[in-house]
Amino acid sequence: MERPVKVLKFGGSVLRDESDLVAAAHEVYRYYRRGIRVVAVVSALGSTTDDLMSRARRLCVQPRPELLAPVLATGETTSANLFGIALDGAGVPAQVLSPHQIGLRARGPVLDADPMDLDAAALLRELDRVPVAVVPGFVAQRDDGRLVLLGRGGSDLSALFIAHHVKADCCRLIKDVDGCYESDPALPGPPPRRLLSASFDDALALGGAILQPKALRFARDHHVAFDVAGLCGVRPTRIGRLPRIAVEADTMAASRPLRVGLLGLGTVAGGVYRELCCRPDLFDVRRILVRNLDTDRGVGAVSHLLCTDVREVLDTPCDVVVELAGGVQPATEWMASALRRGRHVVTANKAALAAHGCLLARTAQQHACSLLFSASVGGAVPALETARRLASEHVIGFEGVLNGTTNFVLDQIAQGTSFAEAVRRAQQAGLAEADPRLDLDGSDVAHKLTVLARHTFGDVPIRWQRREGIAGKLPDVPPGHAVRLVGSCHRQCETPMGVGQASPAELIASVEVRVLPERDALAQVAGEQNAVRFSTLDARLRRCEHIVAGRGAGRVPTTTAVMADLFELARAHKLRASGRSAKDTRFSAAACSQEAS
Ligand code: HSE
Repeated sequence: MERPVKVLKFGGSVLRDESDLVAAAHEVYRYYRRGIRVVAVVSALGSTTDDLMSRARRLCVQPRPELLAPVLATGETTSANLFGIALDGAGVPAQVLSPHQIGLRARGPVLDADPMDLDAAALLRELDRVPVAVVPGFVAQRDDGRLVLLGRGGSDLSALFIAHHVKADCCRLIKDVDGCYESDPALPGPPPRRLLSASFDDALALGGAILQPKALRFARDHHVAFDVAGLCGVRPTRIGRLPRIAVEADTMAASRPLRVGLLGLGTVAGGVYRELCCRPDLFDVRRILVRNLDTDRGVGAVSHLLCTDVREVLDTPCDVVVELAGGVQPATEWMASALRRGRHVVTANKAALAAHGCLLARTAQQHACSLLFSASVGGAVPALETARRLASEHVIGFEGVLNGTTNFVLDQIAQGTSFAEAVRRAQQAGLAEADPRLDLDGSDVAHKLTVLARHTFGDVPIRWQRREGIAGKLPDVPPGHAVRLVGSCHRQCETPMGVGQASPAELIASVEVRVLPERDALAQVAGEQNAVRFSTLDARLRRCEHIVAGRGAGRVPTTTAVMADLFELARAHKLRASGRSAKDTRFSAAACSQEAS
């Protein structure tokens, strides 16, 4: 099935510095985890273009355009490459592509050229290989190979031009405002009405403060509809061949942030806490459960938020409880208690979910709350989301590298490091569980496999054929092979005769050390990466494979996945506050309890 393409353009007003690149990475992850291929077009960070211009003008009052253009282009090139790094850190597989690599050609004045052509096939091929491409906006290439610029604000034009040529499903221009207004909302006076939709000519009439007029004319002439939104926006302004619909600004008034209770302040929870603090418009951390009030968490947690009694978190009015303490109990009871009090729960706790996931899902459903657990399997790898996306195709099984610590250790051992030293390094890198035996003896894989199996097939009994870890003697590895700890799960009967759409009666699962040829995708999973290979049958009973891979462990990737669930809740909260029925985000709870029944 062809995966949709979305073009996201991040302007300099939302990319002021490196920390904004992290926020932008969350926005890309939001689509990536839904299986959408993303082209992220970026402007230079903040005032970089003006600064470069001033520097050039200090050297020469009127620099020649062909000398100035490559200097200004470094702003977009730098932000694109930094964004590639931010996405990699967040666990989003991304590549940075130059105008040359995507054949983005332009003609006309060097500082205000018009884009003429794009090698859409090349860009789509790259997106098939790596699902996220970062492209510097504003910059194109002339036929003679010189870099040219598309005029001030030209990243809007880059994004719309690319969206048009790759026939993107959607193009979103992300700004530091939540959409377009009838006039500048920053000016004194009564707040202007906000546009939900507008025609191209309406948008042109607003002037060039928000959108580049040249880009708007291109969109109008080529019928490229697009959205204007803020980061984590819920009701963008849609520009296209559309009627002008405006609403009073106060119907869109900012809702209060989502109130968060945090259980734990370890490796992942510390990362989540920091991220929550970066978005005070969306989140308000009310209480944090810690083991010891004196421990220096290194995350700058405000001391009056800390407590050692879980009742203080559960009794504090909150909208969502984020459980990152780990372990089956008392974490399960804490989550159930939060759900019974009408709080949404976000967790990465695969051990608790494997043991009591269906009970928790039922509790969530009974109390009309969401139970979200994207981070419990695969870190930033959207394994659960992919299982869900494939639900309409017939999944017959999956297998994967699901534990970053053991994969990291196996790679280190292959390079000559001792087992003990490799484990120590994995702990130092923040990959291992609090009790690393859970990683090493295969329990962590078994937990994740159980959660993923339930998400894929429903609450079907699992027959374990084998459950082993990597602590015992490892097999000899012939040249051209790699050792991997592989978790696998498949329907009891894989032959076409046995395949039906109904849930299987039993699942066969194993966690085992395998020696794989290097050409196998699972052998290529390096370090703390995870990968899952799903097998499906198409309508003609042909077997198809779908692989999803990326960073599977560690503070930042796991934080990315936890935050994605929290942003989902924050968007639903904003939508409700703006008076529109929120899209039901209770997918995980609904999926699990439905399957459990
Ligand atoms: N200890 C886990 C691993 C962390 O190494 O994969 C992510 O669940």
